[in-house]
Amino acid sequence: MLTDPIELVASARAAGRGVGAFNVIQVEHAEAFAEAAERAGCGLVMQISQNAAKYHGSLAPIALATLAVARESSAPIVVHLDHAEDRALVTQAIALGMNSVMYDGSKLDYAANVAATAEVVREAHAAGVSVEAELGEVGGKDGVHAPGVRTRPSEAVDFVGATGVDALAVAVGTSHAMTERTASLDLDLIRELRAAIRVPLVLHGSSGVPDDELTRAVEAGMTKINISTHLNKTMTAAIAAFMSAQPGIVDPRKYLGAGRSAMVDEVVRLLGVLKATR
Ligand code: G3H
Ligand code: ZN
Repeated sequence: MLTDPIELVASARAAGRGVGAFNVIQVEHAEAFAEAAERAGCGLVMQISQNAAKYHGSLAPIALATLAVARESSAPIVVHLDHAEDRALVTQAIALGMNSVMYDGSKLDYAANVAATAEVVREAHAAGVSVEAELGEVGGKDGVHAPGVRTRPSEAVDFVGATGVDALAVAVGTSHAMTERTASLDLDLIRELRAAIRVPLVLHGSSGVPDDELTRAVEAGMTKINISTHLNKTMTAAIAAFMSAQPGIVDPRKYLGAGRSAMVDEVVRLLGVLKATR
Protein backbone atom coordinates (compact mmCIF):
# COMPACT_ATOMS: atom_id res chain seq x y z
CA MET A 1 0.00 0.00 0.00
CA LEU A 2 1.07 3.56 -0.57
CA THR A 3 1.90 5.14 2.76
CA ASP A 4 2.42 8.66 4.08
CA PRO A 5 6.16 9.54 3.97
CA ILE A 6 5.94 11.66 7.12
CA GLU A 7 4.35 8.75 8.94
CA LEU A 8 7.03 6.31 7.73
CA VAL A 9 10.15 8.46 8.05
CA ALA A 10 9.30 10.77 10.97
CA SER A 11 8.09 7.89 13.12
CA ALA A 12 11.30 5.97 12.36
CA ARG A 13 13.33 9.04 13.35
CA ALA A 14 11.48 9.28 16.66
CA ALA A 15 12.07 5.58 17.35
CA GLY A 16 15.75 5.60 16.26
CA ARG A 17 15.08 3.28 13.34
CA GLY A 18 16.37 3.61 9.79
CA VAL A 19 14.21 3.56 6.67
CA GLY A 20 15.64 1.88 3.57
CA ALA A 21 15.27 3.88 0.36
CA PHE A 22 16.12 1.89 -2.73
CA ASN A 23 16.34 3.04 -6.34
CA VAL A 24 14.05 1.57 -8.99
CA ILE A 25 15.49 1.28 -12.48
CA GLN A 26 13.57 -1.68 -13.88
CA VAL A 27 10.16 -2.91 -12.72
CA GLU A 28 12.03 -5.92 -11.26
CA HIS A 29 13.63 -3.57 -8.71
CA ALA A 30 10.21 -2.41 -7.49
CA GLU A 31 8.94 -6.01 -7.34
CA ALA A 32 12.01 -7.08 -5.36
CA PHE A 33 11.68 -4.18 -2.90
CA ALA A 34 7.98 -4.89 -2.27
CA GLU A 35 8.67 -8.56 -1.66
CA ALA A 36 11.56 -7.70 0.68
CA ALA A 37 9.40 -5.24 2.66
CA GLU A 38 6.69 -7.87 3.04
CA ARG A 39 9.20 -10.49 4.09
CA ALA A 40 10.94 -8.16 6.57
CA GLY A 41 7.64 -6.82 7.91
CA CYS A 42 8.45 -3.12 7.53
CA GLY A 43 7.91 -0.19 5.18
CA LEU A 44 10.41 1.30 2.76
CA VAL A 45 10.89 3.94 0.09
CA MET A 46 11.04 3.11 -3.62
CA GLN A 47 12.68 5.97 -5.46
CA ILE A 48 13.09 6.92 -9.09
CA SER A 49 15.83 9.35 -10.01
CA GLN A 50 15.76 11.97 -12.72
CA ASN A 51 18.45 9.92 -14.46
CA ALA A 52 16.30 6.75 -14.35
CA ALA A 53 13.35 8.68 -15.80
CA LYS A 54 15.63 9.98 -18.56
CA TYR A 55 16.79 6.42 -19.30
CA HIS A 56 13.17 5.33 -19.82
CA GLY A 57 12.43 8.36 -22.01
CA SER A 58 10.07 9.89 -19.44
CA LEU A 59 8.99 9.52 -15.83
CA ALA A 60 5.49 8.14 -16.38
CA PRO A 61 6.14 4.51 -17.46
CA ILE A 62 8.47 3.57 -14.61
CA ALA A 63 6.65 5.75 -12.03
CA LEU A 64 3.22 4.29 -12.83
CA ALA A 65 4.61 0.73 -12.76
CA THR A 66 6.28 1.41 -9.40
CA LEU A 67 3.11 2.98 -8.00
CA ALA A 68 1.14 -0.09 -9.11
CA VAL A 69 3.61 -2.43 -7.38
CA ALA A 70 3.46 -0.29 -4.22
CA ARG A 71 -0.36 -0.19 -4.19
CA GLU A 72 -0.61 -3.96 -4.64
CA SER A 73 1.84 -4.68 -1.82
CA SER A 74 0.72 -5.39 1.74
CA ALA A 75 3.76 -3.41 3.02
CA PRO A 76 3.68 0.38 3.54
CA ILE A 77 5.62 1.96 0.68
CA VAL A 78 6.52 5.53 -0.33
CA VAL A 79 7.11 6.25 -4.01
CA HIS A 80 9.62 9.09 -4.21
CA LEU A 81 11.23 11.17 -6.96
CA ASP A 82 15.00 11.18 -6.38
CA HIS A 83 17.51 13.93 -7.29
CA ALA A 84 15.23 16.07 -9.45
CA GLU A 85 17.13 19.12 -10.64
CA ASP A 86 14.40 19.87 -13.17
CA ARG A 87 11.42 21.61 -11.58
CA ALA A 88 9.06 20.36 -14.31
CA LEU A 89 9.81 16.77 -13.24
CA VAL A 90 8.60 17.57 -9.72
CA THR A 91 5.31 18.83 -11.17
CA GLN A 92 5.02 15.64 -13.24
CA ALA A 93 5.79 13.39 -10.25
CA ILE A 94 3.04 15.05 -8.21
CA ALA A 95 0.54 14.70 -11.08
CA LEU A 96 1.43 11.00 -11.46
CA GLY A 97 0.67 10.32 -7.78
CA MET A 98 4.17 9.97 -6.33
CA ASN A 99 3.86 11.02 -2.70
CA SER A 100 7.35 12.33 -2.02
CA VAL A 101 9.87 14.31 -4.07
CA MET A 102 13.49 15.32 -3.74
CA TYR A 103 14.41 18.62 -5.26
CA ASP A 104 18.20 18.70 -5.58
CA GLY A 105 19.45 22.28 -5.67
CA SER A 106 22.78 21.36 -4.11
CA LYS A 107 24.73 22.60 -7.11
CA LEU A 108 23.21 26.07 -6.67
CA ASP A 109 24.63 28.62 -4.30
CA TYR A 110 22.95 28.79 -0.87
CA ALA A 111 20.48 31.61 -1.62
CA ALA A 112 19.40 30.12 -4.95
CA ASN A 113 19.01 26.65 -3.37
CA VAL A 114 16.79 28.15 -0.63
CA ALA A 115 14.64 30.08 -3.12
CA ALA A 116 14.15 27.17 -5.54
CA THR A 117 13.54 24.62 -2.76
CA ALA A 118 11.00 26.87 -1.01
CA GLU A 119 9.05 27.14 -4.26
CA VAL A 120 9.03 23.35 -4.65
CA VAL A 121 7.83 23.00 -1.04
CA ARG A 122 4.92 25.38 -1.73
CA GLU A 123 3.88 23.41 -4.81
CA ALA A 124 4.31 19.96 -3.24
CA HIS A 125 2.69 20.74 0.11
CA ALA A 126 -0.36 22.15 -1.66
CA ALA A 127 -0.76 18.65 -3.15
CA GLY A 128 0.00 16.83 0.12
CA VAL A 129 3.39 15.65 -1.14
CA SER A 130 6.48 15.66 1.06
CA VAL A 131 9.80 17.23 0.05
CA GLU A 132 13.43 16.26 0.58
CA ALA A 133 16.21 18.70 -0.30
CA GLU A 134 19.99 18.57 -0.28
CA LEU A 135 22.43 20.92 1.37
CA GLY A 136 26.17 20.39 0.99
CA GLU A 137 26.57 18.48 -2.24
CA VAL A 138 27.10 14.73 -1.81
CA GLY A 139 29.68 13.99 -4.50
CA GLY A 140 29.88 11.24 -7.07
CA LYS A 141 26.82 12.19 -9.15
CA ASP A 142 29.12 13.09 -12.01
CA GLY A 143 31.42 10.13 -11.44
CA VAL A 144 33.88 12.16 -9.35
CA HIS A 145 34.05 10.93 -5.75
CA ALA A 146 34.14 13.77 -3.23
CA PRO A 147 33.71 12.33 0.27
CA GLY A 148 35.34 15.44 1.80
CA VAL A 149 32.32 17.79 1.50
CA ARG A 150 30.44 18.51 4.75
CA THR A 151 27.09 20.14 5.62
CA ARG A 152 27.40 22.91 8.22
CA PRO A 153 24.85 22.42 11.05
CA SER A 154 24.08 26.14 11.49
CA GLU A 155 23.46 26.54 7.77
CA ALA A 156 21.29 23.39 7.77
CA VAL A 157 19.12 24.80 10.58
CA ASP A 158 18.61 28.03 8.61
CA PHE A 159 17.91 26.07 5.41
CA VAL A 160 15.21 23.89 6.99
CA GLY A 161 13.58 26.95 8.58
CA ALA A 162 13.69 29.01 5.39
CA THR A 163 12.39 26.27 3.05
CA GLY A 164 9.98 24.17 5.14
CA VAL A 165 11.39 20.88 3.81
CA ASP A 166 10.30 17.58 5.36
CA ALA A 167 13.68 15.80 5.13
CA LEU A 168 17.24 16.92 4.52
CA ALA A 169 20.06 15.17 2.65
CA VAL A 170 23.38 16.06 4.24
CA ALA A 171 27.03 15.54 3.33
CA VAL A 172 28.71 13.53 6.10
CA GLY A 173 31.39 11.53 4.26
CA THR A 174 29.63 9.52 1.57
CA SER A 175 29.97 9.78 -2.18
CA HIS A 176 27.57 8.43 -4.80
CA ALA A 177 28.07 5.33 -6.95
CA MET A 178 30.90 3.70 -5.01
CA THR A 179 31.31 0.04 -5.92
CA GLU A 180 33.52 -0.73 -2.91
CA ARG A 181 32.18 -0.30 0.64
CA THR A 182 35.09 1.68 2.04
CA ALA A 183 33.55 5.03 3.11
CA SER A 184 33.82 6.15 6.72
CA LEU A 185 31.32 8.61 8.11
CA ASP A 186 31.63 11.68 10.27
CA LEU A 187 29.52 10.29 13.14
CA ASP A 188 30.09 13.32 15.38
CA LEU A 189 28.71 15.58 12.66
CA ILE A 190 25.69 13.26 12.24
CA ARG A 191 24.98 13.53 16.00
CA GLU A 192 25.33 17.31 15.81
CA LEU A 193 23.00 17.56 12.83
CA ARG A 194 20.46 15.20 14.44
CA ALA A 195 20.37 17.36 17.57
CA ALA A 196 20.10 20.64 15.65
CA ILE A 197 17.59 19.76 12.93
CA ARG A 198 13.94 18.88 13.48
CA VAL A 199 13.39 16.92 10.23
CA PRO A 200 14.72 13.45 9.34
CA LEU A 201 18.23 13.31 7.88
CA VAL A 202 18.93 11.46 4.64
CA LEU A 203 22.14 9.60 3.83
CA HIS A 204 22.90 9.54 0.11
CA GLY A 205 25.55 7.41 -1.55
CA SER A 206 25.15 4.68 1.07
CA SER A 207 26.41 1.93 -1.25
CA GLY A 208 29.98 2.85 -0.29
CA VAL A 209 29.31 2.40 3.44
CA PRO A 210 30.02 -0.97 5.14
CA ASP A 211 27.27 -2.69 7.16
CA ASP A 212 28.56 -1.82 10.64
CA GLU A 213 29.05 1.83 9.67
CA LEU A 214 25.48 1.97 8.29
CA THR A 215 24.18 0.72 11.64
CA ARG A 216 26.31 3.32 13.44
CA ALA A 217 24.98 6.04 11.12
CA VAL A 218 21.38 5.15 12.07
CA GLU A 219 22.31 5.05 15.75
CA ALA A 220 23.96 8.48 15.42
CA GLY A 221 20.80 9.95 13.85
CA MET A 222 20.50 9.30 10.11
CA THR A 223 17.02 8.04 9.17
CA LYS A 224 16.41 7.63 5.42
CA ILE A 225 19.25 5.60 3.94
CA ASN A 226 19.52 5.71 0.14
CA ILE A 227 21.07 2.64 -1.49
CA SER A 228 21.26 2.07 -5.22
CA THR A 229 24.62 1.00 -6.71
CA HIS A 230 25.10 -1.82 -4.19
CA LEU A 231 21.80 -3.44 -5.26
CA ASN A 232 22.64 -3.02 -8.92
CA LYS A 233 25.87 -4.86 -8.17
CA THR A 234 23.84 -7.61 -6.47
CA MET A 235 21.47 -7.84 -9.43
CA THR A 236 24.24 -7.82 -12.04
CA ALA A 237 26.31 -10.47 -10.24
CA ALA A 238 23.28 -12.78 -10.03
CA ILE A 239 22.48 -12.29 -13.72
CA ALA A 240 26.12 -12.86 -14.71
CA ALA A 241 26.25 -16.07 -12.64
CA PHE A 242 22.97 -17.24 -14.17
CA MET A 243 24.17 -16.55 -17.72
CA SER A 244 27.46 -18.31 -17.26
CA ALA A 245 25.77 -21.35 -15.71
CA GLN A 246 23.08 -21.48 -18.42
CA PRO A 247 24.42 -19.71 -21.51
CA GLY A 248 21.65 -21.01 -23.80
CA ILE A 249 18.84 -19.19 -21.98
CA VAL A 250 17.29 -16.30 -23.94
CA ASP A 251 14.10 -15.66 -21.91
CA PRO A 252 14.68 -12.42 -19.95
CA ARG A 253 12.28 -13.63 -17.25
CA LYS A 254 14.79 -16.32 -16.35
CA TYR A 255 17.86 -14.13 -15.88
CA LEU A 256 16.02 -11.00 -14.66
CA GLY A 257 14.18 -13.29 -12.24
CA ALA A 258 17.54 -14.45 -10.86
CA GLY A 259 18.60 -10.82 -10.45
CA ARG A 260 15.30 -9.92 -8.79
CA SER A 261 15.43 -12.72 -6.22
CA ALA A 262 19.04 -11.88 -5.31
CA MET A 263 17.90 -8.29 -4.62
CA VAL A 264 15.04 -9.50 -2.40
CA ASP A 265 17.48 -11.38 -0.14
CA GLU A 266 19.93 -8.49 0.00
CA VAL A 267 17.25 -5.88 0.79
CA VAL A 268 15.86 -8.04 3.61
CA ARG A 269 19.38 -8.28 5.01
CA LEU A 270 19.99 -4.52 4.63
CA LEU A 271 16.72 -3.66 6.39
CA GLY A 272 18.11 -5.52 9.42
CA VAL A 273 21.42 -3.62 9.17
CA LEU A 274 19.46 -0.33 9.11
CA LYS A 275 17.38 -1.31 12.16
CA ALA A 276 14.29 -0.80 10.01
CA THR A 277 12.57 -3.91 11.26
CA ARG A 278 12.72 -3.40 14.98
O1 G3H B 1 19.90 8.98 -4.28
C1 G3H B 1 20.36 7.82 -4.35
C2 G3H B 1 21.43 7.37 -3.52
O2 G3H B 1 22.09 8.39 -2.91
C3 G3H B 1 22.16 6.14 -3.90
O3 G3H B 1 23.56 6.27 -3.99
O4 G3H B 1 24.17 4.51 -5.62
O5 G3H B 1 25.83 5.42 -4.08
O6 G3H B 1 24.01 3.98 -3.20
P1 G3H B 1 24.43 4.97 -4.24
ZN1 ZN C 1 21.66 10.38 -3.88
